Amino acid sequence: MRQFTEDTLTEAVIGRLKDVDNPRFKQIMASAVKHLHAFARDIQLTEEEWFEGIKFLTAVGQKCDDKRQEFILLSDILGLSMMIVALNHKTVPGATEATVLGPFFAHGAKEYEHGADLREGASMKGEDVYVSGKVLSLDGKPVPNALLDIWQAKADGIYDVQTDGEFELRGRVKANAKGEYAFRSYKPKFYSVPIDGPVGDLIRATGNHHMRPAHMHAIVSAPGYQPVITHVFVEGDPYLDGDAVFAVKDSLIGRYRKVDDAAEAKRLGMPNPFLRLDWDFRLAPDAGVKARKVIAPSDAIA
Ligand SMILES: [Fe+2]
Repeated sequence: MRQFTEDTLTEAVIGRLKDVDNPRFKQIMASAVKHLHAFARDIQLTEEEWFEGIKFLTAVGQKCDDKRQEFILLSDILGLSMMIVALNHKTVPGATEATVLGPFFAHGAKEYEHGADLREGASMKGEDVYVSGKVLSLDGKPVPNALLDIWQAKADGIYDVQTDGEFELRGRVKANAKGEYAFRSYKPKFYSVPIDGPVGDLIRATGNHHMRPAHMHAIVSAPGYQPVITHVFVEGDPYLDGDAVFAVKDSLIGRYRKVDDAAEAKRLGMPNPFLRLDWDFRLAPDAGVKARKVIAPSDAIA
């Protein structure tokens, strides 16, 4: 076939996939071609505009390294990451809701026991907080021996992995046999997504803001249950309604309450006064559901 026109080209390109063996790959490619062509037709894309697009995508790729994942950031701010979470991880009623993983997860964080101090080795101070609660099943029974992978930004809104420093405010905290977990940390602060790259240019060009409401990230897993990748946001944060990556859910907003009780502070190994977050996670049974892949920026470079 030859002599393609704007009306026949899409079908011709999809037709060349006829010998692809993998049906899912074939479906993905055919849909990508269909929608890319429709996008170009819809806006009557010019060559100059598409070249600008190519330059942008090139810059996004060039910004990536084993710590910086500009493509994940792009996916996040376009809402595609949250769309894929919504499509693939429909919340089982009563279970903790899932959110984006984000670009700052790292493998190999230190393991801690119940009561861990994630402030250990922190390069800057924040507001001291004692975080504790339970990991529960849908019927409210304790889930024994869960693992909570926790990470959050430092007081300046920068994650440890964005610098050359050691891990900080990050750890794999083991819950006990009664489903209880506890750790000490700093209250998270709101922060800007990285805007010193091409995605920052895009955010500015679209007039969107680049802030994320304060949150800690958590992956909670336990044998026999579906792991959940989630956030816990901070009640009262000014950016809850405008999260740059669309991850906020009402069920994931926690209250950091002030405790002024010298005896309680001493018992928990905290300065007085301090903040306390009581937060339970609820896991759905495994039921053969494929676990979400946990990707660190370094995984995409290999
Ligand atoms: Fe984050």
